[in-house]
Amino acid sequence: MDIVGNVDELRKHVYDWRGQSLSVGLVPTMGALHDGHMALARRSLETTERTIATLFINPRQFGQGEDLDSYPRTEEEDVEKLTGAGVHLLFAPTAQEMYPNGFSTGVAVSGLGDILEGAFRPGFFDGVATVVCKLLNQAAADIAFFGEKDFQQLRVIRTMARDLNIPTRIEGVATVRESDGLALSSRNVYLSAEERQVAPALYQTICDVATKVKAGAPPAEAEAWGSAQILAAGFASVDYLSVVDSQTLEPYVDASRSGRVLVAAQLGRARLIDNVAL
Ligand code: PAJ
Repeated sequence: MDIVGNVDELRKHVYDWRGQSLSVGLVPTMGALHDGHMALARRSLETTERTIATLFINPRQFGQGEDLDSYPRTEEEDVEKLTGAGVHLLFAPTAQEMYPNGFSTGVAVSGLGDILEGAFRPGFFDGVATVVCKLLNQAAADIAFFGEKDFQQLRVIRTMARDLNIPTRIEGVATVRESDGLALSSRNVYLSAEERQVAPALYQTICDVATKVKAGAPPAEAEAWGSAQILAAGFASVDYLSVVDSQTLEPYVDASRSGRVLVAAQLGRARLIDNVAL
């Protein structure tokens, strides 16, 4: 696997592959790779002839008081995992490469980026949309892969790519879970052994909420029941537990449309998010 740190070198590889008519896949990450990230890489390797992974802990998507400084960094292991999987190129730019002095452009997806996660983490999706827009333009891949684990992020990125006519196809990949249901996340390392026992209640509860709504329970009732369950399990707080339309992420009112249960809750030092389809 080649490792490059600047956009010119990245483009050289991509132009070379394009010259050979090879298709290119892109897997953006912030590192601390786990099997969820590797599922995206495997999907890319199955779907396209060349796969680029990116590793960039994007400062613009961390708010004040969030975990930018303590975000897990495991670059050596990440390189080993990507190499072992057969990824062809790692793009690992510095913050200076991504945001040189004078950088002054931002991408905001209004509406979708302001609700749910966006309401609790102001500016978060602006940071995500800006860096993903840059990565898509830098790599000019045929397909880019993102996890359904971050369901709202996937919706924001699809909207941004469509609105800005970015020709890369955006593909979602199903959430990879531990055997007890906990969604894999780089931030799970923040959980103590005791909190780790409590954590699967999040997934269990949103599955139960989905079952209730499918059986005809009013979404607001199911949401209130679910939040109480999560608190009773030992979580410190629930930022939101919402039954929403899968496309608009607005409250779920039309049972003929596809729905999704989205949740964010605090457990010790870890803020966990998860979602399931109705
Ligand atoms: P990060 O949290 O490192 O996640 C990188 C990609 O892996 C995202 O598309 C995310 O949805 C996916 N992913 C994480 N956990 C997963 C799991 N358990 N199952 C399946 N996929 C999973 O998300 C980001 O980084 C950043 O916001 C990024 C898109 C890279 C922009 O900076």
